Amino acid sequence: MSIRTVGIVGTGVIGASWTGLFLAHGLRVIVADPAPGAEEKLASYLESIWPALETMDSSGVPQADSDSPYSASLSNYQFVGATLGRHYKDVDFLQENAPERTDLKTKLLAEIDAAVRPDVVIASSSSGIPSSKFISQCQHPERVLIGHPFNPPHLMPLVEVVPHSNTSASAISNAMDFYESVGRRPVHIKEEVPGFVANRLQAALCNEAYSLVARGVVTAQDLDACVTTSLGPRWAMVGPFLANAMGGGGGSEGFKHLLEHLGPASRIWVEDMQEHKFDWSQDSIDALGSSVSDELQGKDVQELEQKRDNDLVKFFKIKGVRRTSFHGIAL
Ligand SMILES: NC(=O)c1ccc[n+]([C@@H]2O[C@H](COP(=O)([O-])OP(=O)(O)OC[C@H]3O[C@@H](n4cnc5c(N)ncnc54)[C@H](O)[C@@H]3O)[C@@H](O)[C@H]2O)c1
Repeated sequence: MSIRTVGIVGTGVIGASWTGLFLAHGLRVIVADPAPGAEEKLASYLESIWPALETMDSSGVPQADSDSPYSASLSNYQFVGATLGRHYKDVDFLQENAPERTDLKTKLLAEIDAAVRPDVVIASSSSGIPSSKFISQCQHPERVLIGHPFNPPHLMPLVEVVPHSNTSASAISNAMDFYESVGRRPVHIKEEVPGFVANRLQAALCNEAYSLVARGVVTAQDLDACVTTSLGPRWAMVGPFLANAMGGGGGSEGFKHLLEHLGPASRIWVEDMQEHKFDWSQDSIDALGSSVSDELQGKDVQELEQKRDNDLVKFFKIKGVRRTSFHGIAL
């Protein structure tokens, strides 16, 4: 499958970031969004992220095929209006990024499916709605799947590729190959579970974090420090399974040893967490809000965001973003 031209439907937070990533990999991008001012907003966003993308490129993130007729260029995209219309037939891969509403996505997917070539993969960025919920009006639903990025997709390597039960094997492998070709780390999620995988993990950790802060066990600032100075850096290098194997002395035997050794204690912690689940009451939400506001005192959030994104670029430059291995173990 040769992908030279990508269609982007919806250029909000996610669609605009995908556009930058695809441009940085030498692809031609055709974009559409019905919102007034969307074209100007996209242009100014792309200008703002282009320096970071150029830095990442020079770090060795592979470009598109060397025989590509397109070189990485910020001007290699075309904003064509509210819909891709007659340009649908020109795209080799379609990334849909419209608002998270089943009715809207159902209508939009029917339009896209009727217009793009039948061999073109249609990937939805949806973070919560599985594609089985919005393919009812598609003639070729077998090439529809979820390609769920982590925000912002031009910096975060993970893309969760989530097929529905009738997505074809070739659509899955074409999507995996395509995301890998633009320096992402695609992960094939084999079943349509709510929230997919990364957001479920995030929800599990955040629920406990909310509970601890709302109960006054720790402040929001100190809880954030617990993550950024321990689990965060560790898990950025090795995931929880590999970390557990190392913690137990190495190898799968080490992993099993750790579970047998620490398992009983951690089961008590988990039972305690289940007894003290965050209750989502207004009082608890207010308590969290007040602790977060203490943490934010005197800080400029925009500046912090900018620093976070700059540091992420440096971090991925060191670590690399593509499929790699740690002492022979695929990460
Ligand atoms: N924001 C995130 O952190 C995040 C992360 C991963 C995935 N997602 C998913 O990405 C998708 C887009 O989210 P977002 O955060 O970019 O939303 P957003 O509100 O920033 O952008 C949505 C864009 O879609 C446009 N739009 C509205 N109707 C449209 C139509 N009929 N056709 C084409 N475009 C249309 C809007 O004008 C807007 O620009 C959602 O499915 C969301 O779940 C979001």
